Amino acid sequence: MLQPYVGVIVKVLLIAIFSNCCLAKPSRSRFTNYTHYRLPESLKPEHYTLKIVTSLDPLHLTFAGEVIIRFQVLIGTGNITLHARNLTIDENSIELIKYDDNESTRYAIDAVRVMGEHDYFIIHSCLALLRGETYALKLVFRAPLNQLLYGYYRSSYVDQVTNETKWMSVTQFEPTYARTAFPCFDEPNFRAKFKIWLGHQKSLVALSNTPLAKQEKMYSESNETDDYVWSIFEETVPIPTYLVAYSVNNFTYKLSGNYGVKFYTWCRPDIINECEFTAQIAPELYKFFESLLAMSLPFTKMNQLFVPNFRARAMENWGLITYRESLLLCSLNSSSEMSRQRIATLVAHELAHQWFGNAVTLKWWSDIWMNEGFATYMSILGVHHLNSNWNFLQIESMNNILDVLEYDVQVNSHALTQGIKSTIQITSSFDLLAYKKGAMLVRMLHMVVGDDVFLNGIREYLSKFLYTADNYGSLWNSFSIRAHTYQRLETRNNIKIVLHSWTSQTGYPLLKVIRNYSNDSASVTQQRFFLNSSRGKNATKRCWWIPITLASASRLEFYKLRPSYWLECKKNKQNINITLSGMAATGDWIIFNVQMMGLYRVMYDADNWALLNGTLNSDKYTQIHVLNRAQLIDDSLALAWAGYMNYRLTLDILNYLQYEKDYLPWRTALRGFIKLDNILKGYEKQYKLFTNFLKYLILPTYNRLHGLNSTQNEKEISYIDLMHKTQISYWACYLQIDDCVNASKQYFANWKNSNINQIPTNLRLTVYSTAIRYGEQSDWEFLWQYLQESNNVVSEQRTIIQALTCSRNEITLRNFLDLIFNNTKYRQDSVAAFEGIARNKIGFPIAKNYLIEHFDQLRDYGTISRDVINLILSLARQVTSMENNIGILEFLAKKRNIFRHSWKTILSAVEITQLNIGWIRRYRAVVHNNLRRRNLKRGKNPTRPK
Ligand SMILES: *[C@@H]1O[C@H](CO)[C@@H](O)[C@H](O)[C@H]1NC(C)=O
Ligand SMILES: *[C@@H]1O[C@H](CO)[C@@H](O)[C@H](O)[C@H]1NC(C)=O
Ligand SMILES: *[C@@H]1O[C@H](CO)[C@@H](O)[C@H](O)[C@H]1NC(C)=O
Ligand SMILES: *[C@@H]1O[C@H](CO)[C@@H](O)[C@H](O)[C@H]1NC(C)=O
Ligand SMILES: *[C@@H]1O[C@H](CO)[C@@H](O)[C@H](O)[C@H]1NC(C)=O
Ligand SMILES: [Zn+2]
Repeated sequence: MLQPYVGVIVKVLLIAIFSNCCLAKPSRSRFTNYTHYRLPESLKPEHYTLKIVTSLDPLHLTFAGEVIIRFQVLIGTGNITLHARNLTIDENSIELIKYDDNESTRYAIDAVRVMGEHDYFIIHSCLALLRGETYALKLVFRAPLNQLLYGYYRSSYVDQVTNETKWMSVTQFEPTYARTAFPCFDEPNFRAKFKIWLGHQKSLVALSNTPLAKQEKMYSESNETDDYVWSIFEETVPIPTYLVAYSVNNFTYKLSGNYGVKFYTWCRPDIINECEFTAQIAPELYKFFESLLAMSLPFTKMNQLFVPNFRARAMENWGLITYRESLLLCSLNSSSEMSRQRIATLVAHELAHQWFGNAVTLKWWSDIWMNEGFATYMSILGVHHLNSNWNFLQIESMNNILDVLEYDVQVNSHALTQGIKSTIQITSSFDLLAYKKGAMLVRMLHMVVGDDVFLNGIREYLSKFLYTADNYGSLWNSFSIRAHTYQRLETRNNIKIVLHSWTSQTGYPLLKVIRNYSNDSASVTQQRFFLNSSRGKNATKRCWWIPITLASASRLEFYKLRPSYWLECKKNKQNINITLSGMAATGDWIIFNVQMMGLYRVMYDADNWALLNGTLNSDKYTQIHVLNRAQLIDDSLALAWAGYMNYRLTLDILNYLQYEKDYLPWRTALRGFIKLDNILKGYEKQYKLFTNFLKYLILPTYNRLHGLNSTQNEKEISYIDLMHKTQISYWACYLQIDDCVNASKQYFANWKNSNINQIPTNLRLTVYSTAIRYGEQSDWEFLWQYLQESNNVVSEQRTIIQALTCSRNEITLRNFLDLIFNNTKYRQDSVAAFEGIARNKIGFPIAKNYLIEHFDQLRDYGTISRDVINLILSLARQVTSMENNIGILEFLAKKRNIFRHSWKTILSAVEITQLNIGWIRRYRAVVHNNLRRRNLKRGKNPTRPK
């Protein structure tokens, strides 16, 4: 009974001191439990003054801060609800001030409450906050610099000159970690200006979103001799909290960009030369986007920061882009063209975000695919601009399409637009589909409406919504209106509705084309594509708005990307059957979906397949566009796998690969072969037939590209041929083609003997893997030693780790898992290492038992639960019999509670094992018979059919 009374006295004191505060209302009874997952809409933050003092003293790695948030009251309220998590907030120094015309009034605080579930920090004011008025709230807080790689965290590296561990601090706030660094309104629709002060040791560098305005000596009451300074940054334009960023470090920079925006690329001093490439390309990409989108952003300085330990690949913070160091290192003379292309892709993606996501931000996370989809698609255009020899427009689009077609097939997949009601859901919504399906839907739209409509629509949209939050609705409108004006779209059709059918539903369609040869027509229907076709029979009604493009033997219109027809999808989801006339003459093949502009598979009647097959297996095969050859390969593999089509036909089609010279169809085929290789490798007889067939297909190309030879000078061979050689030689060695294995062993032996590594960079994965797979234990030790000793191989680390997983020694593999999971240096490659071992036939049981035995340790090791889920997924993909499934299901069931937030992913892992086992049951014999038949036929008639 005493407690409340004391409370009242304290309050009176406050009122006495600050005056003008009501005495009224005993408070506790007024409190309601605010359980909604979004913040109340009563307050609108306008400005943050954020002061953070960072200590990088190795014995004292912490930060302390103060934030003053100025906000407007939109709806009168008695509380201020904002986000804070794991911060120690000093409740005694909370100040709330109301701005009047001339003076400001201090408000007393009634009570403070923390509501953990949604990270709310709630301040009840003694007096009501009035609509239309502006207030300022000051909070003082502190926390350790964590090692979790999000929020405001610390990262370290060993200085190569002094051999000392150096610490740096950096932020990673997207999507919901700003609240762990300072109390804030941590939702993307709350944009505010930020004035940031960073307190730090004078000898260090401080970076934030904007250029440094000035630096001041920091005066501290407690410590006269401090050598701390304040770095004070220019005020930002209004940005959401997740784009705020800062870092304290001892890095140096490369300066680049000779117009408007100056680019500062920051790296630790030891590796500054490996940052040159990123510094070089960024201004060019930036300029490209600026002119493509006809919009300048208010940057004078753009920082790019290489962070030694980084969870994501990169982060597009406003004006301070952060990258995972190991992904970007590139020595100008030794790195491969492929790594340059990968770096360019990442840099382009983050720069594109400055427009898509930063200049205009989504209101909420449910449609994160729009941010990621646009940034990904724009990065493809940007990289293509940077170097058209990379043929990125085709190759990267195809990569994305094949990924979507492969992953968006499970019952447990999800729609792009997701209901997001918790922070865990927000984090897991950044998945492959958001990036790739998103990007390929943007590509589809681009092709449907045409260049001018697409670009002008975007330009208008961006300038209209600059510095606001919006969900792209008016962009779709703008596309529709223009598309109608230019007659790209019938006026009764509407982009928003078209798109909605693709984003609100899981999966993608299979188009069924049945030709009527007597009157040159074709009937077209759609259904959802399932990995097990019998699922489709009782599936619920679904349909998509499908743009239809086509070419035929007599009309090779592979460049006509605008749809000639639409397969519509009306409200009642009735599956409409349309009949198209004037298709093609009886003897001519037709192909739907030219250049795979739409995200769907196509299936034909048997006669049309036969016509296509005949052309592929003839010297006319290049009549079919290279992307459509890839399409035919991928579709026929998937259709047979899922039971829509016979393996006999698929193998007939694949047979043409012995003539195929282009990179893309091969790349597509090899992706498909990984799946077959995986599933058959446990079944000796079938596996032998399968690998013989592959060898037969691959040898002509392997020889044409001169095996592993004459690549001493990578510059003498075109980029595409180089990539082609890389993929083909990897498989040639994997299939144990003698020439390849011997050449690899020779390369490796030369390296071991001379200690000079002369293996061409693009062949290193092939050579290392082969040497480890078919070599001695001493080869393994040599490579492992090399990985540990050399500090200059960060960019090669992943390649070496992958190769080390190819060992055929059980004890080595088991020890390797320990080595990897017990050393933080390899943390970012640990999932890949585990996956490699799981894929290794000898390694699978080792990986499985390791996961089950060390589960708790592995879960702590990953900083987010996704890591351990990825381990489970990589095991699931290798399960091809009930026998090797033993233990996994029981284990998952036991851990059900731990996975409750990601149960859907666990279900999808289980689904993968079931699909694999089902496939073996249905198709092992079928594939066996067809491969044997081919084998016999090959023996009799080895010459090329006409
Ligand atoms: C709010 O929640 C707490 C704990 O869940 C409960 O004890 C309390 O009665 C609730 N108050 C109201 C007003 O619902
Ligand atoms: C805070 O104020 C908002 C708006 O008036 C209200 O919806 C919410 O329930 C309040 N929260 C609490 C914990 O009282
Ligand atoms: C928050 O702090 C608690 C206890 O101090 C700790 O167990 C937890 O891991 C931290 N959580 C996050 C998300 O930082
Ligand atoms: C660097 O420090 C580590 C650990 O303190 C030590 O093992 C190593 O020998 C040192 N290397 C050099 C070159 O001084
Ligand atoms: C001032 O700070 C320095 C560095 O943190 C510390 O070594 C020193 O003891 C402090 N002096 C006082 C008077 O607190
Ligand atoms: Zn992104």
